[in-house]
Amino acid sequence: MKPVSTVVIKSADEIACMRRAGHLAARAIREVTRAVAPGVTTAELDSTAETFIRDWGGVPSFKGYRGYPASICASVDDEVVHGIPGPRVLGEGSVVSIDLGVYLDGFHADAALTVPVGEVKPEVQRLLTVTVRALEAGVAAARSGGFLGDIGEAVQSVVEAAGFSVVRDYAGHGIGRALHEDPQVPNVGQSRKGMALQAGMTLAIEPMVNIGGPEVTLDADGWTVRTLDRTRSAHAEHTVAVTADGPMILTGLEGAGALY
Ligand code: MF3
Ligand code: CO
Repeated sequence: MKPVSTVVIKSADEIACMRRAGHLAARAIREVTRAVAPGVTTAELDSTAETFIRDWGGVPSFKGYRGYPASICASVDDEVVHGIPGPRVLGEGSVVSIDLGVYLDGFHADAALTVPVGEVKPEVQRLLTVTVRALEAGVAAARSGGFLGDIGEAVQSVVEAAGFSVVRDYAGHGIGRALHEDPQVPNVGQSRKGMALQAGMTLAIEPMVNIGGPEVTLDADGWTVRTLDRTRSAHAEHTVAVTADGPMILTGLEGAGALY
């Protein structure tokens, strides 16, 4: 029989531990995004991330996860998520999503941000801005007394009001001692629907936003997800704790009100 709930509730001490993993993840993303420039390969970004995470005592969560070969996912232009780093050279005007996980003292934290490579067209910059706004709206909806559908509706309404579309085939997730825990956290939904949110839940909220339609395809490498219509896509992710005092971003930078 299926258990009523397989969601793992974390104590304040466990959340503090995840905050340390999350802080390192945020600093690693800052380090990698600073290295993004025309002429840089995604493999170079991967080694920047791995070195940084290990230098600070963490382990890259993704490396070896279900056979994944790298420490980051680097998804360029029409790649939505799970792009594998390699010899590909970033070109001016592209966008790249940097997604990474940090395992530290028994807990994971997962975060992502999509950044421009050099100068991008205004419509592409708008895609990046809307994706972060959608993430922020999703985070703000992660409140005890609320429901999982509140998060999906918050994300979806920001994205669709901007004329973009939300990827449905992939979702956020619970996170803690495992990189992926229950529940799934969809980026679409209806408020007041779905699982009740309660203090101690730790969720990775990760909207994937396309300029064109929401449909995606999987590459022959078995990992890279890209838009079916080949329009550009962006992705942003925070690990968040639901607390009695409201949502707490665990993958933020120290003292930063804003993202990263
Ligand atoms: N943040 C992504 C996710 O939660 C990446 C993890 S997949 C991995 O799905 F295999 F690359 F680890
Ligand atoms: Co994730």
